[in-house]
Amino acid sequence: MPSTIVIDNVTRIEGHAKITIHLDEHGFVHDAAFHVTQLRGFEKLCEGRPFYEMPALMARTCGICPVSHLIAGAKACDELMAVRIPPTAQKLRRIMNLAQILQSHALNLFYLAGPDIALGFDADPGQRNLFGLAQAHPGLVRDGIRLRQVGQQIIEILGGKRIHPAWVVPGGVASPLTIEQRDAILALLPQALTLAQRTLDWYKGVMGEFGEEIRSFGNFPSLFMGLVDAEGGLEHYDGQLRLIDAAGKVVVEAIPPARYGEYIGEAVEPFSYLKSPYFKPKGYPEGMYRVGPLARLNIAATCRTTWAAQELAEFKVLGHPTVLSTFHNHYARFVEMLFAIERIDQLLREDDILDTHVRALAAPNAAEGVGIAEAPRGTLIHHYRIDAQGLITFANLIIATGHNSLAMNRAVLQVAKRFVKGSSLQEGMLNRVEGVIRAFDPCLSCSTHALGQMPLELRLLGPDGEVLDRLVR
Ligand code: MG
Ligand code: NI
Repeated sequence: MPSTIVIDNVTRIEGHAKITIHLDEHGFVHDAAFHVTQLRGFEKLCEGRPFYEMPALMARTCGICPVSHLIAGAKACDELMAVRIPPTAQKLRRIMNLAQILQSHALNLFYLAGPDIALGFDADPGQRNLFGLAQAHPGLVRDGIRLRQVGQQIIEILGGKRIHPAWVVPGGVASPLTIEQRDAILALLPQALTLAQRTLDWYKGVMGEFGEEIRSFGNFPSLFMGLVDAEGGLEHYDGQLRLIDAAGKVVVEAIPPARYGEYIGEAVEPFSYLKSPYFKPKGYPEGMYRVGPLARLNIAATCRTTWAAQELAEFKVLGHPTVLSTFHNHYARFVEMLFAIERIDQLLREDDILDTHVRALAAPNAAEGVGIAEAPRGTLIHHYRIDAQGLITFANLIIATGHNSLAMNRAVLQVAKRFVKGSSLQEGMLNRVEGVIRAFDPCLSCSTHALGQMPLELRLLGPDGEVLDRLVR
């Protein structure tokens, strides 16, 4: 009779989830699942609201990546109004989106996953957190906190506040950039660039210690999806939604936003509140794909900034034609932080960045709109329908973490099979199972307003339900 190990709650991720690992009679792992235990309500609760409230309302979905929802929501509203937004507004939206990618990646790399990387997966759990990390590597933690702060400061300079800014609006942005704002942001960038380069060098130096994790943390062929620009380069705001396979072959060149439903299905599994999107032409669950930093770097042939382009080329040497290990999401995040800083600098130096025409005004001109953008964790899709009064009648959101649902489940099983053995639990084994989830960097807060913290309890149950072993954090 099989036994079950439950990791509840998964720690150092954004939101609430648990993992169950099923053992066979010999104590070997035969199945595992990642359960998201929060329920989202946003698709329903926005029904009946005026469409122009949607970006700001959707930003409330999440305290970590509000800007992503702001951007995807505003793009869906641009479609409802059937407007092309002013070029300067598009650049300003891009800057805010990149600032969020910077702050969110720094959060994952230093606060959430960082303790495992800098202290080791088997380090004392009492130390394996940001505070333990700060004691052991104060310089690294200072760099990481500063990088996150720069991203947050840019969001605040543009939007008036760090969390839930409402500056991105249907048709553009609410106010033009002033010279003072531009110069304040430009002044932050040289130091941020130095820190991003320094921390990336640190990461490349320690990455070699994780050969075993790199081999088993969600390391399998899958499809990858993400935006690319007109030249096939790294893109986070607009462009073409491309799907490639593990051999690097383009499967779909450009998914038209309005027709995403022909390509992406949303399956529901009984064990999780997170839906499992899949690539429809391949069916379920064979249509598993990954989104996020690793997927974006796999899809992008190049990127348009100096330092990040060099790092991207180096990254691509890790795997040819695609990098398959989910562990390399960490590496990809470092490269994207560098890109974000350089690209913000480029955009701020464009001639029209201070142009005061930053908003297209219009009433609804279409009954339906789809907005797609790259969130820190991957492709975000907002789809709205409105009635004749402009009130929302339907909203569908597919968030980055959802796209990765199938791959996260597969990855948890792979890590559990590799590291979890026998009837006696070792904390480090289970931390690796959590660690692969941290490599995906799910944002489950996008689903609900979960408050407080549940204690982590690991239980090993015998065939009769008897608790054989137990760890409490
Ligand atoms: Mg949905
Ligand atoms: Ni989020």
